[in-house]
Amino acid sequence: RSFSVRIVVFQEKFLILQINKHVKAMSKEYKRTLITTALPYTNGPVHIGHLAGVYIPADIYARYLRLAGRPVTMIGGSDEHGVPITLKARKEGVTPQDIVDRYHKLIKESFEGLGISFDIYSRTTSKIHSETASEFFRRLYDKGEFIEKTTEQLYDPEARQFLADRYVTGECPHCHNQGAYGDQCEACGTTLAATELINPKSTITGATPELRQTKHWYLPLDKWEPKLREWILEGHKEWKTNVYGQCKSWLDLGLQPRAVSRDLSWGVPVPVEGAEGKVLYVWFDAPIGYISNTKELLPDSWETWWKSPETRVINFIGKDNIVFHCIVFPAMLMAYGDNFQLPDNVPANEFLNLEGDKISTSRNWAVWLHEYLADFPGKQDVLRYVLTANAPETKDNDFTWKDFQARNNNELVAILGNFVNRVVVLTHKYYEGAVPAPGEVTAADREMLDELQALKTSLTENIETFHFREALKDAMGFARLGNKYLQDCEPWKTVKTDPERVKTIMNLCAQLCANIAVAMEPFMPFMSEKLVKILGGLPLNWNEIGSADLIKAGTMLGQPELLFEKIDDEAIQKQTDRLEAIKKANAIAAFQPEKVLPEVSIDDFAKLDLRIGTVLECQTVPKANKLLRFTIDDGTPTHRTIVSGIAKHYKPEELVGKQVIFIANLAPAKIRGIESQGMILSALNADGSLVVAGPTDKCNPGAQVK
Ligand code: MF3
Ligand code: ZN
Repeated sequence: RSFSVRIVVFQEKFLILQINKHVKAMSKEYKRTLITTALPYTNGPVHIGHLAGVYIPADIYARYLRLAGRPVTMIGGSDEHGVPITLKARKEGVTPQDIVDRYHKLIKESFEGLGISFDIYSRTTSKIHSETASEFFRRLYDKGEFIEKTTEQLYDPEARQFLADRYVTGECPHCHNQGAYGDQCEACGTTLAATELINPKSTITGATPELRQTKHWYLPLDKWEPKLREWILEGHKEWKTNVYGQCKSWLDLGLQPRAVSRDLSWGVPVPVEGAEGKVLYVWFDAPIGYISNTKELLPDSWETWWKSPETRVINFIGKDNIVFHCIVFPAMLMAYGDNFQLPDNVPANEFLNLEGDKISTSRNWAVWLHEYLADFPGKQDVLRYVLTANAPETKDNDFTWKDFQARNNNELVAILGNFVNRVVVLTHKYYEGAVPAPGEVTAADREMLDELQALKTSLTENIETFHFREALKDAMGFARLGNKYLQDCEPWKTVKTDPERVKTIMNLCAQLCANIAVAMEPFMPFMSEKLVKILGGLPLNWNEIGSADLIKAGTMLGQPELLFEKIDDEAIQKQTDRLEAIKKANAIAAFQPEKVLPEVSIDDFAKLDLRIGTVLECQTVPKANKLLRFTIDDGTPTHRTIVSGIAKHYKPEELVGKQVIFIANLAPAKIRGIESQGMILSALNADGSLVVAGPTDKCNPGAQVK
């Protein structure tokens, strides 16, 4: 007994030491954390890929810091420039401003709906942004940080404009994908210049562009390469391997000057003389949006948040944004000078796929946040939970509706909801809802509390190092621990023999519930709020997690109320049906007829004896789920039997009485023991469906098709 107590004491000391060391390392040099979140393009709504990659992790981190009492500002906003927006506007016959107004509103509201706790969510079409971005450019220009170059660029003679970025498509010079864009090939991921494309075509008119001379400003990234190398490769070995690795390969390839202006009308005008018709490249202005939005939020103190070495900047982004945040924007900030702080970390995530396919705004292959919120009202935390539990932190991951349902039903309902519910119900049953005062603490109680401490340490450590999946597991561990503790202590039995003991058990269970409310707040703020209410109110303080004195004895618990509800098959089916329909529509839109086969002579054709037949009978074939067996009236008294692989596309009774075209002189073949005397013709559609071919008007059975 004394031995075990010593161990416990030792462990506690050790834990406290660890925590202290850790918090010191994190907060000694830094007084505040500036969190930025990639500004989403406003050419479509936000989807689960954005959420899992950027906004949910950033929100968890921001909420955690707030609970820990550490100053934090979380910056968000819409990225409203760039070619995709103008292309969409053109397609819909509206202005780019109409497009960004529509999606900015939708995106902002849906983020609010999910509880993403931005301190500001603004936009890059704001006045303060265009001023800030212009000033930024102008200062670099005045300092001589740009190279001015006249080069030949693609020009559409019909539309009478230069073709930047996505205004051109063509063949990728690397992987030969036919649909590569002027800025990037999505098939192989290579960054391209429009002039590198093979067989370029204008996406406005379809015309073949010509080359014309035009002047642009380039940021010589090569000038900053040594500093970038030192800063990242030497100074930030702790960055995630995917981020560090991408930076290293960019740096090892050698950096080139990069154009920071474009010949376009939509964007922030280049603020120098002789730059009519030119705007800042979207990747030049957008990251400055982080600064503009901070200025808008904190007009008096924004500089402290950007220029003080005591500020720690963290950029939350997806992997396609790494080069811009780790190389280009830092080079811009270095060129600007004036103490602008470089990010201390860039915890970029990989991609989330949807049901095995790449998420795509243009192919409508996504779960859209605003639709989710409408389809699953009150279930914001379920999405937050699933996307965190399944976050693509180290590799691409897949979201499936089945997994969504399983995690809700088997984890949120069965583990977390169940524990809290049992505690509240038992407290009402034994003590009319008042949390009992604890008595003597036993070894079993200590063990549980030690386990809670260990979980807290791991949870904090995982959040600090951006391992949110693991952190969520730790937080769920609180509820697992509670269930196990209840199961081990069996208060429903002990209550008859030792009611004093049960008071301690139920007090500790209430403490666990209170700990859950705090620990889960960053992940599931809606649930946390509900739980706090049930627990009769509670100050939320991260530093008090692990305490067995969060909720005072005598506190009245609210009525039991389910924190989570089961999600039934029907709700899931509705979602998977929707995706099926989109997949079909996409296949139809992308349909390309097969290449025509080599030529045949009329004599070759004449060898085929095609006939009309009437379906007399049609049946399924046992144990062959693709086959249907037909009896065809072919004009002869004996009729004929044909087996055809179309059972997936028709119910047998749908075909009875129909007329079909069949090959009458095909050599008979045995299929599943049935002799098939010919072949019924059908057409293969883009969506994979088969449609039986037949005459448009009634024919005599046996009539020849010529
Ligand atoms: N709009 C970009 C994207 O969706 C992200 C811009 S991040 C910023 O990929 F730093 F430029 F703002
Ligand atoms: Zn390619």
